[in-house]
Amino acid sequence: MASFTRVIQFVSVSFLLLPVLLHLSACCINGAAADLSTALFAFGGSYADTGNHNRSDTEPRMSASWSKPYGETWPGSPAGRFSDGNVSTDFIAAFLGIPSPPPYGQVMTNPDISTTNGVNFAYGGAGVFNTFYATIPNVSTQIAQFQNLTMEGRINWLTQENGTYSSLAFTIIGGNDYGEFDAEYPNATKEEKWAFVPVVVNALADTLRALYDLGFRKIAVSNLLPLGCQPGAASHASSGELCDEDENRMSQFHNDLLAAHVYELKKLPGAEIIILDLYSALTAALNDIGTTEPCCQGISSDYECADVASNGTSLYTVCSDPSQALLLG
Ligand SMILES: *[C@@H]1O[C@H](CO)[C@@H](O)[C@H](O)[C@H]1NC(C)=O
Ligand SMILES: *[C@@H]1O[C@H](CO)[C@@H](O)[C@H](O)[C@H]1NC(C)=O
Ligand SMILES: *[C@@H]1O[C@H](CO)[C@@H](O)[C@H](O)[C@H]1NC(C)=O
Ligand SMILES: *[C@@H]1O[C@H](CO)[C@@H](O)[C@H](O)[C@H]1NC(C)=O
Ligand SMILES: *[C@@H]1O[C@H](CO)[C@@H](O)[C@H](O)[C@H]1NC(C)=O
Ligand SMILES: *[C@@H]1O[C@H](CO)[C@@H](O)[C@H](O)[C@H]1NC(C)=O
Ligand SMILES: *[C@@H]1O[C@H](CO)[C@@H](O)[C@H](O)[C@H]1NC(C)=O
Repeated sequence: MASFTRVIQFVSVSFLLLPVLLHLSACCINGAAADLSTALFAFGGSYADTGNHNRSDTEPRMSASWSKPYGETWPGSPAGRFSDGNVSTDFIAAFLGIPSPPPYGQVMTNPDISTTNGVNFAYGGAGVFNTFYATIPNVSTQIAQFQNLTMEGRINWLTQENGTYSSLAFTIIGGNDYGEFDAEYPNATKEEKWAFVPVVVNALADTLRALYDLGFRKIAVSNLLPLGCQPGAASHASSGELCDEDENRMSQFHNDLLAAHVYELKKLPGAEIIILDLYSALTAALNDIGTTEPCCQGISSDYECADVASNGTSLYTVCSDPSQALLLG
């Protein structure tokens, strides 16, 4: 099993999201704050998940988002996010002027919970394909969950004229598919790894098309983070460089293909699709702080952030000021 948390590590500083949010305002937010029907539906992995993992899951890494040190900066205790504070969905909701939408898991277990602000279907570790653990729903399953809630009448009040939604669909996905690929094919050649990129992006484009066909017109999709800046990969950086630039070129290939797909999808009637440039935002922020060193890491390569021994001893370390760190681990 590959490192689960490494591929769903979280970016914890809010300034990272600023350029991303400026992009959003260009497309999808016109008059949103005043529009009471605005809601946010999130799909994807840990960068968007606000608490969908089952906190009672017997596999510790599946319930890690409910363990220390996550949530340390905000709200002060573990809150189901793979972050020391808020995640992208929270920031986008704040930008829209609405509370962060409830996680799907809570909506399912509590029939009284309001979906006025949308629902968050994102699940740490998820990909467009199946990843890591059988219980992690891929993004197609997350969309099926959205459809089921709609059929059950729990979100159909959002349907506007002509069966389209005024709401924003937000998706951030893909990194975990590459993590899963590396875990499955540790000896894959560079050519084999690159050949997987269009496979992922085609499936991602199908996902965007599925959201459009369901009635979403405003869709924000994040591009892929610089994979070569993840702590594991960055250790292979050439001297004088922060990240493994060779690995980053694979992210750029992914992002170029995604941009080409979005260009085509935007031709669909009424479609307002925007790419949130996480790649550039994260690159700029990492250059700014000058390190890819994660704030939280296992005490050795056998362990990861949030791992705990059976006797209760923590098997990770946390940096002195998590609120100033970028990668949690
Ligand atoms: C969470 O996991 C526990 C233990 O496996 C299980 O009993 C419970 O039904 C799960 N809850 C949900 C909402 O999946
Ligand atoms: C995180 O988001 C919540 C709302 O979802 C907000 O109340 C809180 O102030 C945010 N915290 C930080 C540190 O941004
Ligand atoms: C998503 O998960 C479902 C349920 O496990 C599976 O049937 C489907 O093939 C998966 N989709 C993709 C694209 O892997
Ligand atoms: C959607 O609802 C159907 C019918 O109840 C069920 O069989 C299916 O598993 C549900 N799909 C998801 C992804 O929850
Ligand atoms: C609904 O369709 C009608 C007729 O095609 C069109 O005039 C109207 O602008 C559409 N409304 C929305 C909200 O798309
Ligand atoms: C990858 O290569 C190593 C070293 O050659 C070998 O021990 C291992 O079995 C290979 N793994 C797979 C999944 O082929
Ligand atoms: C707890 O377990 C860890 C890891 O197995 C070990 O290093 C440590 O000595 C143990 N501590 C106590 C107090 O037993």
